[in-house]
Amino acid sequence: MLSIWIYTSRALIASRSADEGALYLRARANNRRDGVTGHLHRARDRYAQVIEGDPETVDALRARIARDWRHDGIFTLREGPVLVRTFETWDMGYGDGGRTPPRLLAAALARPTPWPGVPTVPRGRRALN
Ligand SMILES: Cc1cc2nc3c(=O)[nH]c(=O)nc-3n(C[C@H](O)[C@H](O)[C@H](O)COP(=O)(O)O)c2cc1C
Repeated sequence: MLSIWIYTSRALIASRSADEGALYLRARANNRRDGVTGHLHRARDRYAQVIEGDPETVDALRARIARDWRHDGIFTLREGPVLVRTFETWDMGYGDGGRTPPRLLAAALARPTPWPGVPTVPRGRRALN
């Protein structure tokens, strides 16, 4: 099973600050360890994040992120089972800096939900396009 959580929130730390750098390094290390893929997008005072992984892992990470002091006003755009991953790794990018592919955020929102009994695509398999 594969789960996805996509949300936006209001950032309470400055863009490209030491606080944000620490967040990024910790998140990247944790996500590699836990098989979480996705993207964290920062534009002005907004975050938009896609998280993909095992349902238990995504739930646990979601609980941690939801109570994090570095942002507030979390608004869920999508949650639940998904057939395939959109992202191969987890990374962070900035709306004002060009590393973020908005097309991938849109693709993650549009990914099909599995029908009961239909197996999900094995982890790591790239399925975009
Ligand atoms: C906008 C935002 C995005 C975050 N994304 C992640 C993430 O993808 N993975 C992660 O482990 N922690 C992420 N965090 C941090 C978690 O809230 C939490 O501090 C962290 O997972 C705790 O890690 P630790 O158990 O290694 O101390 C994020 C926090 C914020 C504010």
